[in-house]
Amino acid sequence: HSASSHVIIVFGASGDLAKKKIYPTLWWLFRDKLLPSNTHFIGYSRSNLTVDNLRSNAMPYLNAKDSESTQLDEFFKRNSYVQGSYDKPEDFIRLNKFIVDNFSACSNRLFYLAIPPSQFISVATNLKAHCTAESDGLWNRLIVEKPFGKDLDSSEVLAKHLSSLFSEDQIYRIDHYLGKEMVQNVVVLRFANRVFSPLWNRDNIANVVVTFKENFGTEGRGGYFDEFGIIRDVMQNHLLQILCLIAMERPISMEANDIRDEKVKVLRCMRPLSLDDVVVGQYVADPENGKPGYLDDPTVPAGSITPTYAVAALYVDNERWQGVPFIVRAGKALNEKKCEVRIQFKDVIADILPSGAVHRNELVLRVQPNEAVYMKLMTKRPGMGFGAEETELDLTYNRRFTDLKLPDAYERLLLDVLVGSQINFVRTDELREAWRVFTPALHALESQRVAPHPYPYGVRNGPPQADEFMRRLGFTFSGQYFYPHGG
Ligand code: BG6
Repeated sequence: HSASSHVIIVFGASGDLAKKKIYPTLWWLFRDKLLPSNTHFIGYSRSNLTVDNLRSNAMPYLNAKDSESTQLDEFFKRNSYVQGSYDKPEDFIRLNKFIVDNFSACSNRLFYLAIPPSQFISVATNLKAHCTAESDGLWNRLIVEKPFGKDLDSSEVLAKHLSSLFSEDQIYRIDHYLGKEMVQNVVVLRFANRVFSPLWNRDNIANVVVTFKENFGTEGRGGYFDEFGIIRDVMQNHLLQILCLIAMERPISMEANDIRDEKVKVLRCMRPLSLDDVVVGQYVADPENGKPGYLDDPTVPAGSITPTYAVAALYVDNERWQGVPFIVRAGKALNEKKCEVRIQFKDVIADILPSGAVHRNELVLRVQPNEAVYMKLMTKRPGMGFGAEETELDLTYNRRFTDLKLPDAYERLLLDVLVGSQINFVRTDELREAWRVFTPALHALESQRVAPHPYPYGVRNGPPQADEFMRRLGFTFSGQYFYPHGG
């Protein structure tokens, strides 16, 4: 029979992610009438809470207008809360009874696991044993939030366990960067434009730089962060995913597994990151702007050597990319919040213009803020004379598209799960390959206790060693160009 309703069960309903991201997302989707009509939400956690508590916790993040108050009431009427442990079977049996009694046995079930990794295995086991919808035609899907382990071995333990309980098409590992407009745009840009395809290779491209910057430090989140560090937090997942989309071959189709097959192939062509190919940093207080250092955060253990900045060179050893460095860099406490991909082309052959006048072409995909695609190119300086000037072909989204309102990454991804599309979720083999690439360097940094280079809070690109490293890899930076629609 066909399903009559959908139930979304949020494990970890009392947590930070739930109030800041999950409940707001559910509300926006509800408000915009994007959810199936008969959808209900159940919060679950160990705390003694009510729906009113959930509501007031999430309130500051919902962006609800006064005019939406009736709809907001409607939304919370569809919410319930169940208190329970993460390991006692009887609690999961009670949860199942709650679902069946209130929303019938015939509902599709979406389990959102926003819980600490230590609870993960027991929750998944109990869900499988006691809470899955059993009738034909009904689905059970699992959304899983990172961290997916800490290294190859710990990730494999989780993955094996998960695979013994749920099939690959039931598992939705979130990497929310895959829900961002410009990241989703990569496939269209690359494969729907004749002008790019002949250039997209080692003959023309000198290097690719994928950058993630934040203008704030750990600020209270140091407990979590210190155990993981910037490489696990951002690079092994978000930046590597973007890299795969940039580097992959044309997929057979837009089907989820066709695209994920191509991403896995890129990863399989990558040699493990070596310590020679990475520079790490940690921010220190800047007396000039009064900002604290990483070690000043009371939630960070004294003497920590966890990197808050890293730049690494990855290599895809295949015919298309042999020798081209993919430079991924990520840092907290830098001068701005920004994420972009910069494809730097090789120098022109014979420079007939004065030396130093011609700069390299670059294709930049600005993921955030202020989404844009622009191509830096040389033109004749307008007017008399014949000088060359660096300028751009510019597609800035909020200028080109009027009334642009891009959905939040989480909105797109949740909807993907409801319709069963796995394009933007990380498959088990992809995750394994991602850890294979990063684990040796992570272990080496830790076992050799490599001290990160200090950089003052608020600088442009981490420690000076980072710029030096990028120069050695052949990245050229004139420092003269300024993108006019930045922001
Ligand atoms: C998360 C990281 O995955 O991504 C955070 O754990 C980081 O440390 C965040 O701040 C950045 O996401 P966004 O969407 O704000 O760029």
